[in-house]
Amino acid sequence: MRDLVSKIHITMASTIPLLTPYKMGKINLSHRVVLAPMTRNRSYGNTPQPHAILYYSQRATEGGLLITEATGVSDTAQGYPETPGIWTKDQVEAWKPIVNAVHEKGGIIFCQIWHVGRVSNYEFQPNGEAPLSSTDKGITPGVAGGAWSPPRKLRSDEIPALVNDFRLAARNAIDAGFDGVEIHGANGYIIEQFLKDQVNDRTDEYGGTLENRCRFALEIVEAVANEIGGDRVGIRLSTFANYMECEDSNPEALGLYMANALNKYEILYLHVIEPRMVEADTLYDTPYSTLPMKKAFKGTFISSGGYKRDDAINAVADSKTDLVAFGRLFLANPDLPKRFEIGAGLNKYDRNTFYTQDPKLGYTDYAFLEV
Ligand SMILES: Cc1cc2nc3c(=O)[nH]c(=O)nc-3n(C[C@H](O)[C@H](O)[C@H](O)COP(=O)(O)O)c2cc1C
Repeated sequence: MRDLVSKIHITMASTIPLLTPYKMGKINLSHRVVLAPMTRNRSYGNTPQPHAILYYSQRATEGGLLITEATGVSDTAQGYPETPGIWTKDQVEAWKPIVNAVHEKGGIIFCQIWHVGRVSNYEFQPNGEAPLSSTDKGITPGVAGGAWSPPRKLRSDEIPALVNDFRLAARNAIDAGFDGVEIHGANGYIIEQFLKDQVNDRTDEYGGTLENRCRFALEIVEAVANEIGGDRVGIRLSTFANYMECEDSNPEALGLYMANALNKYEILYLHVIEPRMVEADTLYDTPYSTLPMKKAFKGTFISSGGYKRDDAINAVADSKTDLVAFGRLFLANPDLPKRFEIGAGLNKYDRNTFYTQDPKLGYTDYAFLEV
């Protein structure tokens, strides 16, 4: 009888669009609720820790997609305390049990690979050097609470080495067992520092025209796709946002150019932050939409930013997106897909512990539904 009840329950749940299966390339997802990438600052010494095994496996479901916190591609990639990397052998080894735990629950896990560029300071850089960027212009100190150091503009002949760091990080991610990587091209970090015209002031082939500003991002996509196969590569963009003073004068044109250009590399997904998330915490009314990007891009589309259960259901039902990634709600509700399935109430997130270093508090101690 119990079996029958649970089968009926599953059949009923599949009528909620957000909880219906979806085939993403070769990967069979059983629902469309994705864990958005979230930095949690608990990877001491840039090395993933055993407590992350519990954190990610708590959020894993059979056929559910998780994207990890942003993970550094090199020793110049960091700008925040205790964030993980994937450029050393030890880091690769440390990721393995985390990935295994997610796989044991039937989950799928992609590693978000990043380089912060100018969102950093001397303290995080090897030998206290200047952070690297597309520009010499720094972020106004105090923005987002940071003590940002003035960056150094990369010479054109240094750029291939950075592209190569992303390639190697992707290879390492596959060696660690990840199902794929998400290239972090969003939120004001190095790729955006090249993409957006209010930051990129270069006069070489990486600056100026739209084509030139997108060159760095696309070289990374190409290198990573050649290394591990396009069907294991996603990219995240926040064309419409202005985090970390990273803004573009024509975000629609930039978004559309990237969506079209990405098709050449046949990558798996494009993950876009909703225009309403102009800033990290507040939702705004904007005239923009991600729909033209979704229509242009041939792979899977993931949308994120400010979603709740109902608008996520509608977005999938109206074909505005294929999958929806949830950040804060998933952080605070390890069983979020289940809660959405039965329309249960949600735990509230505690902002004070988003970025603290405790291995448990505000990390793995959010309650599950009692069943
Ligand atoms: C604690 C925290 C850490 C985050 N870290 C990352 C990150 O590492 N990479 C990234 O692309 N976005 C990061 N984000 C942004 C989220 O992925 C997401 O876009 C944002 O929270 C908005 O979605 P939400 O309204 O569902 O929370 C972070 C957000 C939070 C709250």
